[in-house]
This record gives sequence, structure tokens and C-alpha cells, in this order.
Amino acid sequence: MPPSTPPTTLTPAAPAPAASTTAASTTAAPTTAAPAPVATMTAPASPDEAARPLALALVVGSVRAGRLGPAVAGWFAGHARDRDDVHLDVLDLAAFPLPSDMAAVPGTPPERLVRELGERLAAADGFVVVTPEYNHSYPAALKNVIDTYREEWFAKPVGFVSYGGVSGGLRAVEHLRAVFAEQHAVTVRDGVSFHGPSAADFAADGPAGRGSPASAAALRWAVDEGARRRLPVTAALVWDAVGEPPAVFDQADGADRVGLERAARRVLADTVAAVRVPDPAVLVTERVAEGSPVPELLGIATGARLVVVGERGPGALHRLVAGSVCQGVVHHAPLPVVVVRGGTDRSGQSAGTADAADAAGPATTSVDERPVVVGVDGSAGSLRALRWAVEAAAVRKTAVRAVHAWHLDVPAYPGIYADFGSALAEQAQRTLDDAVNTIIAEHGGGLPVQLVKETVADGAARALLRGAADAQLLVVGSRGHGGFAELLLGSVSHQCVAHAPCPVAVIR
Ligand SMILES: Cc1cc2nc3c(=O)[nH]c(=O)nc-3n(C[C@H](O)[C@H](O)[C@H](O)COP(=O)(O)O)c2cc1C
Repeated sequence: MPPSTPPTTLTPAAPAPAASTTAASTTAAPTTAAPAPVATMTAPASPDEAARPLALALVVGSVRAGRLGPAVAGWFAGHARDRDDVHLDVLDLAAFPLPSDMAAVPGTPPERLVRELGERLAAADGFVVVTPEYNHSYPAALKNVIDTYREEWFAKPVGFVSYGGVSGGLRAVEHLRAVFAEQHAVTVRDGVSFHGPSAADFAADGPAGRGSPASAAALRWAVDEGARRRLPVTAALVWDAVGEPPAVFDQADGADRVGLERAARRVLADTVAAVRVPDPAVLVTERVAEGSPVPELLGIATGARLVVVGERGPGALHRLVAGSVCQGVVHHAPLPVVVVRGGTDRSGQSAGTADAADAAGPATTSVDERPVVVGVDGSAGSLRALRWAVEAAAVRKTAVRAVHAWHLDVPAYPGIYADFGSALAEQAQRTLDDAVNTIIAEHGGGLPVQLVKETVADGAARALLRGAADAQLLVVGSRGHGGFAELLLGSVSHQCVAHAPCPVAVIR
């Protein structure tokens, strides 16, 4: 989850109370429906340029845990999304932790972040800066990004959406005007300011999404996880010229590329808008790409902590076998992948769907006491899965059930194999104990969650699927003991992805 990809939209439909359309005065009168300041951007010069949408970068300046910034940015993005003449790129500074000494070391992650952020700033025709007020000024992360770059800001308009206490962030904006002038940027007089808003002011039921139920469920799961882990989310839609996903082609006015791309953006935006703003708010950035879904999605997920994909459910097993996007991502992603099914999961809990009723359902932080179940077979992969499951359970404030399956595949002559069987049972218990003890040691002798150990005399996939019946999440390693390292098809993890009644995390 980081990140990975673009224009935001957290459901905001109604503006927060006390929004003012002027940044020039600190006595802004409350209005409803404050217009986004996108109309004030300079018009492109040539006829060719005039035909393309304005490239607007939305810079989200607050980065602290529990920040309101994503909800405010989502409100702005919701308005910008309704316009065909604007292409919004959301630059959430929480996803770009720039070094404060402005000296990125070549080859290190900060260097990549500095480069990517620079390219995206350079690609913008203009900026809208979303800023809170901290101690009568603006956040340090904003100063850092302004100072780190130079030509990227030159001769471009900068608009403001500010918020804070009684000041509505207007003192932060006044300071930013002086700073941006030093970078040859031109600040826009009019702005929007929210006085004393809360996340609830920006939450509203969005329109019903038009993406598939599975992709909407995956997005909702990702947004909830983003809220739990305080991470931004990128919602990505990849379309290809041969008709996938069908919703894009249903929505398009014509089959030309521009029309399809516009339809793809609309489908994604509507899907994002149907997901309720969680508390704390999460910044959702939208990214639309054309091409082959698996490589495009994995490219977008570069640098992310987690990829979440939707799967249509058990009936779609043939697609999985035939090489679906889901299978491709699970097979090739170098990072953890969570597979979420559309509609209601078989345990009776809502997995998140595209319909409005579900979008209005319980938000993120509603308590789900079901455990996280993890398969442990003693392999290095399953140890990573156990480590990840403990972290996932900790952010959910629930328990982990670590399941180790052992199987003596000789049903006849039980008398002969009785001793052998009990030796195997003891070995199974030792394997599970060793794995759990390793993780306990990593946590300094005590886990942040309750952990229950369970050894089961059965095949691994059957044991895990049974264990997942009352789980909110099943966690498995991408490979284990059994010789299927390179061939996911037929593996335990594949069986779990195909048949589990709850979301499945496949950990590398
Ligand atoms: C360190 C800090 C300093 C603040 N100083 C001011 C201030 O001087 N004036 C004001 O109106 N609000 C002030 N506030 C309130 C914030 O503007 C408000 O909580 C806002 O929601 C913070 O944005 P964020 O949640 O995106 O970080 C301050 C908040 C923080 C955390």
C-alpha cells in the first residue's frame, strides 16, 4: 500500500462546515459548496495543449498519524474528478518521506522517492496545496518539499485548500505565499479554507461504484487496512484494448482510446467514491493505466507494502486456473498479496461490494473479533507468514491462531503405524512451538497479541480452510515444504486463495 498509485477520492460529497472561498481574509464567512479553485489555473497555449486536461498536482502537506489531511484532500479530489478538463495527481507527502537534509543517497530508497516526486511535480501544470495550520504556520513536510525542488515549481500557479482551528489555516497559507514567490511560483488569490473541521464533515455516501463487486471489495478492504496501519492507498485500474474490464467498455461513448481512458477514470473514480471515508481518514489515490494487467499492476505496486486484488469467488476457479489477473499477481508479486472476494464472504461478513448499501456499511474501525488464522509448516516462508499474521492481528486488536497440519497418508493398518503417528504428532507440535518461539523471541519475549497454537492431523489446505471458517483473514506463505516452490498451481496457498471463505494474504 503506498502506495502505489493516483488521483484521490475519498467520498466527500458535502463540504465541511465553515468553508470559505477566500484566502485573503481571516474572517471568511461560512458557505456551502465552495468551488474547487481549479478554474483559476492558466489556460494552455497551443491548440494541442488546449485539448488536453490540465495536469494538476494535489500536494497533501500533513503527514502526522491520525491526520485530517486525507479527508480534506479527498473532498477536493471529489470536485476535481467531476471535471473533464482536469487530470489530478495526488502527491501525499506521507508517501514521500524526503530526507530533511536534501541529500538523497544514490541508490537508496529516498533517492527513488526524491526522483519520483520530482518527476511528478515537473509534470504538473499547476498545484493545489492542502495545508493545515501548525503553530500559526504550515507543516515542516511542506517546507521540505518546497526547498528540495526548484525548477519543478517555476512559473506555475499554486492554489490552496487550508484548514485548522479558528484560523482555517489561513496563516499557513499567508506564509506559503511568501515561500512560493521565492520559487517563482504564482499563488492564486482565491482559495478554500475550512475552520475547525472533523473527518465526519467530509464523510458522505458516494454514488454507487461501477467497478466489479470483487474490485470494490478489494478497495474497501485496502482502505480499511490503510486506516488501521495509517498508510495511503492507491486504487489502480488497468484496462486493455481487448475489452477488460467490461465496465470500462460499457461506460465508454466510443471505442477510441481517449473515450476508453476517460471511461476507465470514471469507473475507478465511482468505485472509489462508493467506499466510505474511514476513521482515521485514508488518502486514496487513483491510477489508471492501459496495458497488460499483471505487469502494469505490479509496476504500480513498486515500493508498496501490500497489494490487494479482488477475486470473483469460488465460481471463478476456472479463471484462476486459466491465468487470471488475480493468479498472475499472486504468482509474480514480490510483496505480500491479499485476495479479497466480492460480495458477502461465506462467513456472513460483508467483504465490501460496489453497491451503495454496502458502501454505507460499517467503517473501518468497527470491531471484528474474529481471529487471524495462519498456516505454519516450519518453512522460512511460513515463518514470514506468522510474523505478518501477528502484525495483522495486532493492528486489528484480535488473536492469532497458528495452525500446523501434519498428515500420515497411510489410512490402512492403523495398529502398525500407531507409534509412528504419535511420533509425528510430537514432531508437529515441536515444529509449531519452534516457529512461535522464534517470533516471540523477535518481540523480546512477549507477543502483542494472544496466540493460540493448533496442530491438526489432516492435509494442510483442508486444515487451513476449516480453520478459516471463523477467521477474518487467512495468512499463508507463498511456498512451503512440498516441492511446489515455482509452481503455485496446486499448492496449499493456491487452494486457500481459491476456496477460503475470507480474504487470504499470501506472504513472501
Ligand atoms: C502541532 C500542531 C499545531 C497546531 N497549531 C494550530 C494553530 O496555530 N492554529 C490553528 O488554527 N490550529 C492549529 N492546530 C490545529 C490543526 O490545524 C488541526 O488539528 C488540523 O486538523 C491539523 O491537520 P492534520 O490533522 O492534517 O495534521 C495545530 C495542530 C497541531 C497538531
